[in-house]
Amino acid sequence: MDPRFEIHPEASAASTLDKAFYLDPEVWALARERIFARCWHWLGALDDVTEPGSLAPRDVLPGLLDEPLLLARDAGGTLRCLSNVCTHRGNLLVQAPCRAKDIRCGYHARRFGLDGHMLSMPGFEQAQNFPAASDHLPVLPLHTFAGHGYAAIDPAAPFDAFFGEVRDRLAGLPLDGLIADPSRSRDYRFDAHWALYVENYLDGRTSPSCMPASHARSTSASTATSSSATPTCSWPKHATARKPSSCPLARPTTAGASRPTTSGCSRT
Ligand code: FES
Repeated sequence: MDPRFEIHPEASAASTLDKAFYLDPEVWALARERIFARCWHWLGALDDVTEPGSLAPRDVLPGLLDEPLLLARDAGGTLRCLSNVCTHRGNLLVQAPCRAKDIRCGYHARRFGLDGHMLSMPGFEQAQNFPAASDHLPVLPLHTFAGHGYAAIDPAAPFDAFFGEVRDRLAGLPLDGLIADPSRSRDYRFDAHWALYVENYLDGRTSPSCMPASHARSTSASTATSSSATPTCSWPKHATARKPSSCPLARPTTAGASRPTTSGCSRT
């Protein structure tokens, strides 16, 4: 590891990261490859892929990873997460949720099954060694939890290593019965390096100096709770009630804007 970015495991001996972590484009590219491509990412609610033959695009971390993915539920009901990029010339395959028997590229009509296998390609009848494994759409690891999907491009660890404890701690809540209310979602946009936001979240000193009123309320509530004889949930002290913003992955992807217009779904 670059010695500028080594963090002492003892907080009392650690110091602020070198500014290159926030400013150096090479470090930014490394973070994309070694951090974000290796994490599990939220794909949003799966309401749009409940029926056999459902297809729904997702764009993972727009502006950072920009990875076009495609949720596809086959006729047998199996849900997969495929690459949404045609293996011929990189055209975006599906741009909006739809139902279909297969996936047809709108550029040169390559067709794929809902499991990602390439089925046919006009004009390639005489092509040798075709289709090769690289002609099929890559299938990404996919997990579902409480009606939401999570995928990883190159996971550094299994899904449970990231979410197992969360799942255990929320086991008593009727998560599968919850219905999203978009009118109560809020987006908060920050023009800042992603690490600054994470640091702000983790740093307990932010609250008393920047938000003294809410800090006073939270500490008095905490005192009241600790004196109660009734057992309560033991959330970590730094865990504030954070409502997820509306899913940026549900927006039409911008990745296709520079690509040829496609239809994507072969209508049933
Ligand atoms: S880009 Fe040519 S068939 Fe998809």
